[in-house]
Amino acid sequence: MAIQWSGLGPELLLRLNRSSGLPLRSQLEDGIRDAIRDGRLQPGERLPSSREFARELGVSRGLVQECYGQLLSEGYLDSQVGSATRVAARAYPAASKSGPGGASRAPGPAAAAPRLIADFRSGVPDLASFPRSDWVWAMREACREVATADLDYGDPRGSRALREVLSGYLRRVRAAAVVPDDLIICTGFAQGLNLVLEVLSQLGVRRVAFEEPGYGDDDTSTSVRSAALAGAPAVRVPVDDLGIDVATLAASEARAVVVTPAHQSPTGVVLAPARRHALAEWASRHDAYIVEDDYDSEFRYDREPVGVLQGIAPDRVFTLGTVSKSLAPAVRLGWIIAPPALSGALAEAKLLSDRGTSGLDQLALATLLRSGRYDRHLRKMRGVYARRREVLIGALGRHAPGVRLTGLAAGFHAVAHLPEAADEDAVVAEALRRSVGLYGMAPFRAIRGAAPPQLVLGFGLTGERAIEAGIAAVADLLR
Ligand SMILES: Cc1ncc(COP(=O)(O)O)c(C=O)c1O
Repeated sequence: MAIQWSGLGPELLLRLNRSSGLPLRSQLEDGIRDAIRDGRLQPGERLPSSREFARELGVSRGLVQECYGQLLSEGYLDSQVGSATRVAARAYPAASKSGPGGASRAPGPAAAAPRLIADFRSGVPDLASFPRSDWVWAMREACREVATADLDYGDPRGSRALREVLSGYLRRVRAAAVVPDDLIICTGFAQGLNLVLEVLSQLGVRRVAFEEPGYGDDDTSTSVRSAALAGAPAVRVPVDDLGIDVATLAASEARAVVVTPAHQSPTGVVLAPARRHALAEWASRHDAYIVEDDYDSEFRYDREPVGVLQGIAPDRVFTLGTVSKSLAPAVRLGWIIAPPALSGALAEAKLLSDRGTSGLDQLALATLLRSGRYDRHLRKMRGVYARRREVLIGALGRHAPGVRLTGLAAGFHAVAHLPEAADEDAVVAEALRRSVGLYGMAPFRAIRGAAPPQLVLGFGLTGERAIEAGIAAVADLLR
């Protein structure tokens, strides 16, 4: 008999063969011993109570108790008075098997990351500020309120409830021209881009342009690798102080471009109004498409808000949004605003990819949006990042006044321009020796060579005091 124990214990497939002639007790002992040795049961994992386990196996409770007693005495299991029986921390004998299937395959503990005074990594929001209690509340509401029929596979575009509330939000906050039918919910920007690339490939697009600097080189950038896999290798188009150079784009063979108009990643440049119009015109003149990565526009500071490019060219623009910056990357929710003529093809691509994003997560996000808690969180975080931004400007002004800071209009990163003679890599390496995480512009470039030394300074993960201390600790390197 094979049983899968579940309930409150771990899932484990265990076989008891009643016709083998072997005593059930030794079969059970061997089964648990083997599971511990080969890593299917991990140190500290809880076993079911003897009563629960006996019922599932169809044996007497006494037999399970005897079996647990034996394994306790052998050191495989551990039990404290009043608490559950668990797999012993590490006291059991080493695995007898090795290689594939043996315990030696189990990954060891990750090497401890060095503790930093300040980590200026970009691309990540303040993970410690994730609105845990709001998310728990929204999830509970979603589970309680969800209609039974909505627990089935649904429209691959995503939950109607979320698409309705999100289109209203995007029309209001991002000046998007969107209706729920043209909105597809996906697993973050990453999946959104893959789905768009799939549809572009069906349209015969064989070259996709990416901003330079932007996503790094062909080997390291997942976005560029996705494009190559979709049969559309990347061309790079430079970004200057006004954003992407549309004339160079027009001279390339690309029929699609991935851009970050509201806050270029990583330079922070906002695409100038004339360039926005030139880009939209390029798309309509060349039967081309714009993939607008609207990743951090929720956080704008002292400038006029900029709507999405999609608002001025809805037939030519796919806008991709994500909650990875507004909530946390772990939520894995994003959306695509599709040109109306292509939303059906995108829905089909989504269906083939995964039949739809988690319905309950979508309902939780809809609940957060509808309740106003999402807006409240954004307002709070805007204040948090705005203060950090001021501290960063102030700290650099005091400790390294020659260092220019740009790209500060939105988001939570900026670019520090080092003196021309500075060696970007050497600054980063020496800063790390002093326990400060600094990051150069080089990993964002595909085209290496004579580029001015710059740092991309993120302040999503680093609080005000750490920013001040971190900049003070590396000030002489920056000057
Ligand atoms: C430029 C850019 N766009 C989008 C994202 C978000 O990607 P996702 O939604 O897949 O987490 C990131 C994440 O770091 C990013 O750097």
